Amino acid sequence: MPGLLLDTLRGENVRPRPAWLMRQAGRYLPEYRALRAEKGGFLALVYDSEAAAEITIQPIRRYGMDGAILFSDILIVPYAMGQDLAFLAGEGPHLSPRLADHALASLNAVPERLKPIYDTVKAVKAQLPADKTMLGFAGSPWTVATYMVAGEGSRDQHETRSLAYRDRAAFQAIIDAITAVTIDYLAGQILAGAEAVQLFDSWAGSLAPSEFERWVIAPNAAIVAAIRARFPDVPVIGFPKGAGEKLPAYARETGVQALGLDETIDPVWAAGALPGGMPVQGNLDPLLLIAGGAEMERQALHVLEAFADRPHVFNLGHGIGQTTPLEHVGELLNLVRNWRG
Ligand code: CP3
Repeated sequence: MPGLLLDTLRGENVRPRPAWLMRQAGRYLPEYRALRAEKGGFLALVYDSEAAAEITIQPIRRYGMDGAILFSDILIVPYAMGQDLAFLAGEGPHLSPRLADHALASLNAVPERLKPIYDTVKAVKAQLPADKTMLGFAGSPWTVATYMVAGEGSRDQHETRSLAYRDRAAFQAIIDAITAVTIDYLAGQILAGAEAVQLFDSWAGSLAPSEFERWVIAPNAAIVAAIRARFPDVPVIGFPKGAGEKLPAYARETGVQALGLDETIDPVWAAGALPGGMPVQGNLDPLLLIAGGAEMERQALHVLEAFADRPHVFNLGHGIGQTTPLEHVGELLNLVRNWRG
């Protein structure tokens, strides 16, 4: 019994629509905050496979989403490539040494840092009902590179975009190294039980068109081809946030089985512009889930209706906000479950 989500990602136009929410395992949930306080921090949680499995399942228990997304982070890949990783309260993540001023070759890889993540996947799979889909994920090489180069999040990815122009060979080597680790990492998650995987490209929108081809499309195409060759039945969802008018090319050229759309994309445009029959995922504005009420319902219905003629996984356009009222999440998921249009 593969379930509504996996059926949709494989190309079926099902009713009711499957739904899950990006960042559904996290700080808007009191049961997450309680476990985080007990274990003493984000990385400690990620590396405690039993706790991480529990957090992965928490939103499913409360709301019954169709997919459980692995509780981990895209920055586990740089950590396994040998950078130090710290999540400082109120500051976001820090990686060191930064590749803006240290050569890639100076890092010593620590591949064992990936193994506990596979144990989390196994622990989730052992507990998850058969009709719920276990979703693995990784960051896309461009987005991961922006953190590895700058050592932290940055507003317009200035340092990384500059490095990519200034020293193309050095930056290509960074992208190639991330791509290789990401393929192994996703394969490890799939072998442990992930049934579909998502590539998060949060900063895809900062690149000029030719750079987008080179640093977004090409490495993602390599990842999709490698996963497809080993695991032909495991769909890959691409989520190039901010890609805008470059989405049709991304969809065609990467070979992803499904496409995640952010909230800036007009669903009516996407329904017409993307390859026919290709499953899409998204794209309600996460701020509407905070606002709730009639406006949220109206716009959620608009998204559902726009994608009625193709496979569609209902989701937000980006991660759920920390201040989202718990009852709004239940109301949204009920609306999606009851829609049969
Ligand atoms: O529900 C899920 O989606 C759980 C797994 C998950 C996390 N991060 C947990 C997390 C996933 C898929 C991510 C992806 C991620 N991480 C992205 C891509 C998606 C996006 O949101 O754009 C990026 C860019 C990161 C890097 C990252 N991790 C940042 C910038 C931060 C700090 C900002 C923040 O929201 O606190 C994190 C920390 C992080 N990752 C938290 C969680 C639940 C918060 C940790 C805490 O409890 O303090």
